[in-house]
Amino acid sequence: MKILVLHGPNLNLLGTREPDVYGRVTLDEIDARLRAYAAERGAEIRTLQSNHEGALIDAIHDARGWADALILNPGAYTHTSVALRDALSAVGLPAIEVHLSNIHAREPFRHTSLIAPVCVGQISGLGWLGYRLALEALLERGPAGEHQET
Ligand code: DQA
Repeated sequence: MKILVLHGPNLNLLGTREPDVYGRVTLDEIDARLRAYAAERGAEIRTLQSNHEGALIDAIHDARGWADALILNPGAYTHTSVALRDALSAVGLPAIEVHLSNIHAREPFRHTSLIAPVCVGQISGLGWLGYRLALEALLERGPAGEHQET
């Protein structure tokens, strides 16, 4: 199984960015941990961080050609980007939205996600572990979500 992991704006600063909120693990460390976990499970991940909405949209379009699923932390675009949401619904790949912090316990403007309604699910508030759990969930579901159980 092949999975695209997308990190949105300002996540390149992880490690030093408001560590009380986002933790001290860097983005490179998160990607390395995910890559190791994926390899253990016989899966492949490709990771991309961008501060640009259009670059994230291009990566989602491109994923249609090679990926089975997506994990994304859209950062602040979570709360603003109809374009990112439309890109996800257009490609129709199963996606899990991840947030390091618990967006529902923060400022009211963070409580709304425009992205979550077009995702399989959302993981929020578990720090970097949220990405690994998202990966585990997607691998468990399988390429076409055929192993989905309720
Ligand atoms: C975030 C939460 C967003 O509200 C914020 O804009 C981010 C990071 C998180 O991972 O907790 O940039 O997506």
